[in-house]
Amino acid sequence: MASYLQIADDEKGHELDLFCVPRHYENDLEKVIIPHGLIMDRTERLARDIIRDMGGHHIVALCVLKGGYKFFADLLDYIKALNQNSDKSVPLTVDFIRVKSYCNDKSTNSVKVIGGDELSSLSGKNVLIVEDIVETGRTMQTLLSLLSECNPKMVKVVSLLVKRTPRSSGYRPDYIGFEVPDAFLVGYALDYNEYFRDLSHICILNDQAKEKYKV
Ligand code: IMP
Ligand code: MG
Repeated sequence: MASYLQIADDEKGHELDLFCVPRHYENDLEKVIIPHGLIMDRTERLARDIIRDMGGHHIVALCVLKGGYKFFADLLDYIKALNQNSDKSVPLTVDFIRVKSYCNDKSTNSVKVIGGDELSSLSGKNVLIVEDIVETGRTMQTLLSLLSECNPKMVKVVSLLVKRTPRSSGYRPDYIGFEVPDAFLVGYALDYNEYFRDLSHICILNDQAKEKYKV
């Protein structure tokens, strides 16, 4: 079982004005729940755990866009640093796919996969899927079943966040940064209808903002 940093349901978080938050979002957020620095520290350790387990062979890191892009970039920087500073190192190549399942703050039943190289190029490779957040688990389960048709050598999934929710299918990634309460989170590339990706900390969105940015 993957270990993770647990953010409790009654976690009070941090007042917004203790941190730097863009002016245009000041009235939209409830609390800072995971400050950027803590995300980075946890990511550094995930990089070490991943290299320990997958480090033998060429790794293809597959970024699940758009929400995964910040975590992907920072995680790969830490993996690169490990590769540069130890006697053992592994080649790392990257690919990007886009998955869309959300409208407003609700998961829809259809999971669409768009873009990326031919998934068949992953045949025989060690694949690391990098995701921002697992909620129901449906997105990841869909992606994993698509991937398995391409016969990769190994597939591991790292998700920065996993939500504690009764809507979960029970799916758990191989590596987890944080387990978080059942609230809608934004920032560090997690969005609400495309807004809030330009916010460094992971924050809880307030109800007023859900209305304001509704499509
Ligand atoms: P799942 O298929 O229900 O596991 O949902 C996974 C996808 O929904 C994630 O990759 C996110 O893009 C999106 N998502 C789920 N919860 C949140 C959230 O709290 N904030 C932003 N996006 C979310
Ligand atoms: Mg995502």
